[in-house]
Amino acid sequence: MIVRTPDELSLMRKAGEITRDALNYAKTLIKPNISTLELDKKIKEYIISCGAVPSFLNYEGYPGSICASPNCMVVHGIPSDKIILKEGDIISIDVGVNYKGYNGDAARTFPVGVISEEKARLIKVTEECFFEGIKHLKVGNRLGELSNAIQVHAEKNGYSVVRELVGHGIGTKMHEWPNVPNYGKKTDGPILVENICLAIEPMINMGKKDIYLLEDGWGIITRDGKPSAHYENTVILTLTGVEILTL
Ligand code: MF3
Ligand code: CO
Repeated sequence: MIVRTPDELSLMRKAGEITRDALNYAKTLIKPNISTLELDKKIKEYIISCGAVPSFLNYEGYPGSICASPNCMVVHGIPSDKIILKEGDIISIDVGVNYKGYNGDAARTFPVGVISEEKARLIKVTEECFFEGIKHLKVGNRLGELSNAIQVHAEKNGYSVVRELVGHGIGTKMHEWPNVPNYGKKTDGPILVENICLAIEPMINMGKKDIYLLEDGWGIITRDGKPSAHYENTVILTLTGVEILTL
């Protein structure tokens, strides 16, 4: 865990604000008939207009500035002019921003027009998983207490937790130690210290937990074809509590 100085935390806050604003902008764009490539172009321009850099672009060869993952796609959907949103879809938009060397990372799952009650419940419970998790994010606790709370809340609602992808420490790099799994035992993981930054990102499947990787090398899809939702924020843990930077 990398302990940040007050000046570094200020830059993390600014990166977080731009990330949040980019997602709020994304929300205004989501409607039937827009392609995920158009979303990518507009959000990329927005991030650059804020004096920041879209950190996903060229990350390990990733070709987009956002990840846009509809329905049964869990995460890492490459934006495409062939993927057109339609009424009733859900779509997770994941945005990463680098501001003066510091990173914000956040995701939301949005409804496209009117969606089914079962998809709406999946989105709601996935968000709740994040908030249940951070109740346990306290200096001196084990990280596993957060992971366990997320898993318990998802499974109590009849859903399953993706195992292969996890949250992460974040700072001058988008992915830093430690991993932040959305499942596990309360006694797992490191003991938390103050002034660390984490990206906490439950990925919750309506059906079974199993996933596969698309041939494009990025897109992650549920094996059973059922919908999946994703909700992510970058946070700071301080002695007094959790500060959510991307909300
Ligand atoms: N938020 C995701 C993550 O933490 C997105 C990164 S994927 C990228 O892994 F390659 F596109 F950057
Ligand atoms: Co992330």
